[in-house]
Amino acid sequence: MKLTQADFKQRRDHLAQKMGANSVAIIATRAEMYRNRDADYKYRADSSFYYLTGFAEPEAVAVLETFAEGEMYRYSLFCRERNREMEIWNGYRAGVEGAVEIYGADEAFAIDLLDQEIIAKLLNKDRLYFRIGHQAEFDARVSQWIQKADAQQRRGSTSPAEVIQLDRLIDEMRLKKSAQEIELMQIASNISADAHTRAMQSVKPEMMEYALEAELNYIFGKHGCVPAYNSIVGGGENACILHYVENNKPLKDGDLVLIDAACEYEFYASDITRTFPVNGKFSPEQKALYNIVLDAQLAAIDATRIGNHYKYPHEVAVKILTQGLVELGLLSGNVDELVESEAFRQFFMHGTGHWLGMDVHDVGAYKHGEDWRAYEAGMVVTVEPGLYIAPDDETVDVKWRGIGIRIEDDIVVTENGPLVLTKNVVKTVEEIEQLMAS
Ligand code: GLY
Ligand code: MN
Ligand code: MN
Repeated sequence: MKLTQADFKQRRDHLAQKMGANSVAIIATRAEMYRNRDADYKYRADSSFYYLTGFAEPEAVAVLETFAEGEMYRYSLFCRERNREMEIWNGYRAGVEGAVEIYGADEAFAIDLLDQEIIAKLLNKDRLYFRIGHQAEFDARVSQWIQKADAQQRRGSTSPAEVIQLDRLIDEMRLKKSAQEIELMQIASNISADAHTRAMQSVKPEMMEYALEAELNYIFGKHGCVPAYNSIVGGGENACILHYVENNKPLKDGDLVLIDAACEYEFYASDITRTFPVNGKFSPEQKALYNIVLDAQLAAIDATRIGNHYKYPHEVAVKILTQGLVELGLLSGNVDELVESEAFRQFFMHGTGHWLGMDVHDVGAYKHGEDWRAYEAGMVVTVEPGLYIAPDDETVDVKWRGIGIRIEDDIVVTENGPLVLTKNVVKTVEEIEQLMAS
């Protein structure tokens, strides 16, 4: 499944409508990024730029201009020109012809003409929308264009009186996913779930963490996907380092391994964490902590419903985690007071989720004014509670130390309650042990 040009056009139509009359919006994607001598990072277009254009080449700028109320808007695309020699070395380019014929631009220009052509598009417009604060160099260029447009006032033109953060409009559009977007995220989730299943089936004591990572990458690659973020494969106490990405230690018999890894499919991310025993069997301590995290996760997923506020699943998770920690003797005191004083933060120091979409930490406001916003149909959020007992935490019995657990799934808020996109990978102790034994 892929989005069509009609889908991208619909998004531009919607944005043009939100911009209001007599306005101009400028949106850029960045240039290729240098990794080291003669080697670039594999290019990935800016999410919001791609969201509106479906155009995945580097060095491009889209401009939308609205005119009087009721008039059509104009979509211009500035991009790299076709160039036989460059294309032989570096690959196909759509060029200005392709920008119009394939990508539906009303007009297209070579990217080198941007500074020259953009000024006329600013003149006599009321508002300029652009994505302020993403690239300092681009911000400076836009400032120069504004100066040039202002200077034309002597000749009788006007220039935009208002400069507005374009992200506010696009982020809100991206936050609520269409049926097609959910479909793409379901595909990404299915591939990622397969990768986690393969990891559970292939792990063995003494295997290197990176070798286990390679099992995941094999499934991603086979489907033409790349990881949506740097994979975390942390054995034993490495699971307590929240952003552990070295993945270069041997996995030990008797330890758990935490894998936070998932792919991106057609520009849409998934985000999965599973924690399982390297030797296929949970120890009593591992199992006790694991089941607390799982109970918290299941309850938080169930709380991800239309009308509940954004933080409610976190509050539900925190209460269950705290209760469980008291029962196991890792915390002592009254549960409500321990929640109130955030005593759980010794063992659970991150949030329970985030928006998910084209970016793994996706765009969209979390609050409306002072208040957490309420869930609406089409929002996609992760639910990822965890417990991390530091290896040097002398406040707890030594048997708990160095155990790190997180369980993470991707949830669509729907009219019929929470829909778990990532349900294809098992997560109960019994299911995991059974899969690993087979
Ligand atoms: N994988 C990044 C996160 O879980 O937020
Ligand atoms: Mn996440
Ligand atoms: Mn994650």
